[in-house]
Amino acid sequence: MGRVDDRRRDGAAKERYRIIGTLGTGGMAVVLDALDLVGARRVALKFARTPDAGAFARARLEYEAEAMRRAADRRICVAYGVETCEGWPCLVMERLIGRTLQAKLDAHPLDPREVADVAIEIAGALAAVHRVGLVHHDVKPANVFVTATGRIKLLDFGLATRRGAFPMQSGSGRRTGRPSVLGTTNYIAPERILRQPADPRSDLFSLGAVIYEMAAGRPPFAGASTAEAIMNVLEKDPPPIDCLQSPAGRALDRVIRKLLAKDPDRRYQTAGELTKALRQVPQDRARAATHTTVRRSLQMRGVRHESVHTSCHVH
Ligand SMILES: Nc1ncnc2c1ncn2[C@@H]1O[C@H](COP(=O)(O)OP(=O)(O)OP(=O)(O)O)[C@@H](O)[C@H]1O
Ligand SMILES: [Mg+2]
Repeated sequence: MGRVDDRRRDGAAKERYRIIGTLGTGGMAVVLDALDLVGARRVALKFARTPDAGAFARARLEYEAEAMRRAADRRICVAYGVETCEGWPCLVMERLIGRTLQAKLDAHPLDPREVADVAIEIAGALAAVHRVGLVHHDVKPANVFVTATGRIKLLDFGLATRRGAFPMQSGSGRRTGRPSVLGTTNYIAPERILRQPADPRSDLFSLGAVIYEMAAGRPPFAGASTAEAIMNVLEKDPPPIDCLQSPAGRALDRVIRKLLAKDPDRRYQTAGELTKALRQVPQDRARAATHTTVRRSLQMRGVRHESVHTSCHVH
């Protein structure tokens, strides 16, 4: 009876989604581009990359879908639910068009006001996550999507936990088997390396690392090895960012430094508090004007904006 039902469900799922291609591959999952023939819409299907297609993989994806549904916000990717596709459990999501913030940063650095605007959107998404008592735990450029219309969407709730939980300790139920802290060393807060209970302020530290990277073109605590990066997170101040010399740049630099404080009590305490500070980052008129002029003149000559690089170095 159970088996017949399963087969019927799989059969229906096979008919329901037509795989079109691959959207991305992360440490834990592969995300495919698909057509939902029943809903008549494009969807993104996230499959666990572990060989386990059974109850454990499904439970993890269901946890992820539930976290996304609870935090629901215009700046968070929409989860439709967990289904079975060709016998494998998968998380069905809205299919976003655009590219990750990682890909955008690889193409060109952003000016300080643009950095602040993107950061405000991510902070808004985090406010929604924290409001429902969750901590995202994996804020990094590859988990932030910039849509073709310029909207920001937070992705990947695979590591999200309840506030106060112990996310990285083995034996903690469905979190067991998730990647170790090493997977996201460049953005992880010191208290997470020290395995403190989940705290929304850790997400703010990670966002600080993302903002630093948006401004500097490299993450703040990168090291030659994972061990060195971990030591940098725990003990070092990030290198100064050369290009933040303008009034907007200096204002942004102060926000970044506060977010990257080792002690969570010295950071902004909430995403809302951070948003307020980011709104006060002024527009650099001269720089913005130069950007626009350069951009326009290159566009007139048929050069794509993405190919314009501004130089910014860290010491
Ligand atoms: N809804 C979506 N629409 C379009 N592309 C998506 C969508 N969701 C994810 N992607 C792409 O797939 C990639 C991997 O997705 P995701 O971050 O959820 O997987 P992951 O394996 O959990 O990642 P990680 O490496 O952080 O563990 C993203 O970086 C993005 O490029
Ligand atoms: Mg990811």
